[in-house]
Amino acid sequence: MLKSLLRVKPVEPAGHIDGGEPFEGSLDGEVTLKRTLTARHLILLGMGAVIGAGIFVVTGQAAANHAGPAIMLSFVLAGIACAFAGLCYAEFSAMLPVSGSAYSYTYATLGEGLAWFIGWCLVLEYLFASSSVAVGWSAYLVSFLTSTLGIPFPAQLAEAPLAWKDGSFAVSGAVINLPAVLIVAAITALCYRGITQSSLVNAVIVAIKVAVIALFIGFGIQHVDPANWTPFIPENTGPGQFGLDGVFRAASIVFFAYIGFDAVSTAAGEAKNPQRDMPIGILGSLVVCTVIYIIVCAVLTGMLHYTQLGTAKPVATALETYADLAWLKTFVEIGAIAGLSSVILVMLMAQPRIFYTMSRDGLLPKIFGRVHPRHRTPHIGTILVGIVACLLAGLLPLNVLGELVSMGTLLAFATVCICVLVLRHTKPELPRPFRVPAIWLVSLLGAAACLFLFWQAFIEHWMVFVGWTVLGQLIYFGYGMRHSRLNKPAAGK
Ligand code: ALA
Repeated sequence: MLKSLLRVKPVEPAGHIDGGEPFEGSLDGEVTLKRTLTARHLILLGMGAVIGAGIFVVTGQAAANHAGPAIMLSFVLAGIACAFAGLCYAEFSAMLPVSGSAYSYTYATLGEGLAWFIGWCLVLEYLFASSSVAVGWSAYLVSFLTSTLGIPFPAQLAEAPLAWKDGSFAVSGAVINLPAVLIVAAITALCYRGITQSSLVNAVIVAIKVAVIALFIGFGIQHVDPANWTPFIPENTGPGQFGLDGVFRAASIVFFAYIGFDAVSTAAGEAKNPQRDMPIGILGSLVVCTVIYIIVCAVLTGMLHYTQLGTAKPVATALETYADLAWLKTFVEIGAIAGLSSVILVMLMAQPRIFYTMSRDGLLPKIFGRVHPRHRTPHIGTILVGIVACLLAGLLPLNVLGELVSMGTLLAFATVCICVLVLRHTKPELPRPFRVPAIWLVSLLGAAACLFLFWQAFIEHWMVFVGWTVLGQLIYFGYGMRHSRLNKPAAGK
């Protein structure tokens, strides 16, 4: 059994890939994914995945309850952890342009057992993230309909029937979060159709949300009162509440805002020139988003004292304070609704592609590896993922979903940081179109930073995470280990 857990998938250097030329092997004679994405598509894909509920929803609570104006510092800290991980993702995705992201990298480095574990963590990152952002999307939509347009919407159809209170589930009294279900269903249909169409829609949405953020910065900056920035780090009032402790706690919360840049790596199988474009896509989107976040936080905390930002829509709250900016609030709401849609889109594109890769490796049933003959998308996996995401979005509250998303993602990031260092030593001869600079420093600091954030916020949610891990192990020992392609003589080809 130990041998199975430790078996490593042979790595083959990727030859240069031209647009349209299939790279990945087909599954039982089926067609492969189509290579259509350029560096520009990839940066937009990253921005589409990253800018969402983190900045539009989470920032306000994190500033009001944990960091104050030093929320800017929290964004810098979380951004540094992500930058380390992003560098490591860039080396891997240029070297191994496949669709499995951290799962594939771990399989090639640390063996099947850990690869499965990371693949299972990625389900938290992508599938659960699409559902959690859909819940945020629903809140913005309902608020826009009811308060801006004056159209009533029944509260019982806008919330999850389950609430998470004091470490256990309780009945909330609501029936289902209908808008969250509908947005996931609509975006699943888009992903079924094809990645080129999806990335076109994504580009339009990214343009809308960046324009809205630019308007907010441009007009909001005129109302910034530097007095609101002092004290920059408010005095500590308890564990995780202000002071340096609060800044760290807030960093682990706003980490959610960065999740998604790695989704770019799952499109490696569909990139025209992955060796050059994957590092540009991953690091480019990360840099752009970090700059945007810090400026937005500076304007937000400058416009309104941090104690007043603890709402579900802090950007709109800041605008409401100034009568001359009321017109901008409607635009911000529309931008947030559009912005969150693109996050859901990228997450729902990423998850079936990871399942596709796991299926090709034999760890998941073949149905996840089927590719639509005309659209050339992993269509059945897309539908199955969409159904589960609809159920989660409709039934579970945002806090449970969001916590699991961050835990899974942080572990995946830490593992990728370690894997890149290990592979440098086990396979130094592999051609690496992009090399992480100062590998020891970046790899170890990246892993340490991600694990530090993992410990910071989520200790009380370990049981849920352990339960999730046990479920994953049951599936692996019940199915994956026995069906792995590495059991067969021609394994790994
Ligand atoms: N980074 C994504 C967001 O903030 C998950 O919505």
